[in-house]
Amino acid sequence: MTKIAPSILASNFSNLGEEIKDVERGGADYIHVDVMDGQFVPNITIGPLIVDAIRPVTDLPLDVHLMIENPDQFIESFAKAGADIITVHQEACPHLHRTLQLIKSYGIKAGVVINPATPAEMIRPVLDEVDLVLLMTVNPGFGGQSFISSVVPKINQIAEWRKEEGLSFEIEIDGGVKADTARQCTEAGADVLVAGSAIFNQTDRKKAIEDIRNAL
Ligand code: DX5
Ligand code: ZN
Repeated sequence: MTKIAPSILASNFSNLGEEIKDVERGGADYIHVDVMDGQFVPNITIGPLIVDAIRPVTDLPLDVHLMIENPDQFIESFAKAGADIITVHQEACPHLHRTLQLIKSYGIKAGVVINPATPAEMIRPVLDEVDLVLLMTVNPGFGGQSFISSVVPKINQIAEWRKEEGLSFEIEIDGGVKADTARQCTEAGADVLVAGSAIFNQTDRKKAIEDIRNAL
């Protein structure tokens, strides 16, 4: 079954613990944590302190999406704070293979992510090193943006390489995922859908998650 990863970026931060419990009760599979540094992307969000604070609040895996320059510098902090998956941008990692190895050295899952304008070929050499491939369907930095549908063929491409090479990483999609954009992602091969505004902007989060699942 397709996994749903609510992005806490769209949650009410003054009530973060309860917001996370609410989506956990509503059937979420991962908690997606968007980390932004004001350098790699034009926004600043949260750091390891918040990951550490939310770790005891949920049993769900914390799926930490690093939108930061020089991620190597912070991987240890996020791993020790309780991240289960750390995903780094190919565009921010000149030594991508080494960075993925560094993540795995903490005994957690490693993911790689590419922006909408980055070709799938850029991550082909590391596909056998990753537990997760994240494809951005918006330009990272903000929640609530529109889904960029020209990314969909890239989902197909990554799924095809996964099959050809006998690999088993998950394919995750992030940005503008809602009931009306979700299905084209899963049909192309996505296993995990991140959704921020589509879930947290609704008062009934359980229904919001079900609405996405029912649209698949
Ligand atoms: C964008 C973030 C996304 C974002 C998704 O930079 O990586 O995870 O929170 O938000 P929605 O679902 O509202 O597009
Ligand atoms: Zn994200």
